Amino acid sequence: MHQSGEKIVCLTAYDASFSHWLEQAGVDMILVGDSLGMVVQGHATTLPVTLDEMVYHTQMVQRGNQRAWCIADLPFMFDATLEGALNAASRLMKEGGANMVKLEGGTRVLEVVSQLSVLGIPVCGHLGLLPQSVEKHGYKVVGRDDSSAEKLLAEALALQAHGAEILVLECVPSKLAKHITDQLSIPVIGIGAGSDTSGQVLVLHDILGLTVGKTPMFSKNYLNNSASIQAALQAFVSEVKSGKFPASHHEITL
Ligand code: KIV
Repeated sequence: MHQSGEKIVCLTAYDASFSHWLEQAGVDMILVGDSLGMVVQGHATTLPVTLDEMVYHTQMVQRGNQRAWCIADLPFMFDATLEGALNAASRLMKEGGANMVKLEGGTRVLEVVSQLSVLGIPVCGHLGLLPQSVEKHGYKVVGRDDSSAEKLLAEALALQAHGAEILVLECVPSKLAKHITDQLSIPVIGIGAGSDTSGQVLVLHDILGLTVGKTPMFSKNYLNNSASIQAALQAFVSEVKSGKFPASHHEITL
């Protein structure tokens, strides 16, 4: 899909029913995100989510999913040591049935990415706004000035060189996200990163208007103009595939 220029559609899911309907709607990849800590468990951040909980939700998602590529998040701190990362990744794949694991960060995680990849575990990187680091860096756009933009590109290239096979870019100005996408050979999946990435990911609860509190400005409520959840999911897939989503008012500019 990436090579042929077809937009890749990804949504988060946390249980079997939703993963079934996501797959039916034509979603290409399902992310069992640790965002479940916020939208399912009611925590203020993703930090309290445990490995057991990630395995449990991945198992549920994979019971409802036959075809979509399933990515599961390494929970907070499991990428801090090689041992922790190997343990978490192997449980997410062996017990959870994930196809790939995602971890947040750049330079800090290169060694871990490389080891996982050598051991045959497909890895998705995650740069830009990093939800597991919000206590230190907050929820803010990353890459607005030249030095942070250069750092982001360098880290994206390094992740690819160390074996990452997909990169999620979160909350990054559109022009920079396009530049990074153009420089990489692996697919870049954007969230609040404009329309010129290889695909899009959003949090399921945001696109169904279920998120309690503030929904990010880069998201869109697809249930507003749809008669059912299934129709809303299909509308999201169709708008990403056709390039209608994200529109310019969902983009972050410099
Ligand atoms: O946990 C999650 O849902 C994520 C997305 C925000 C990309 O990492």
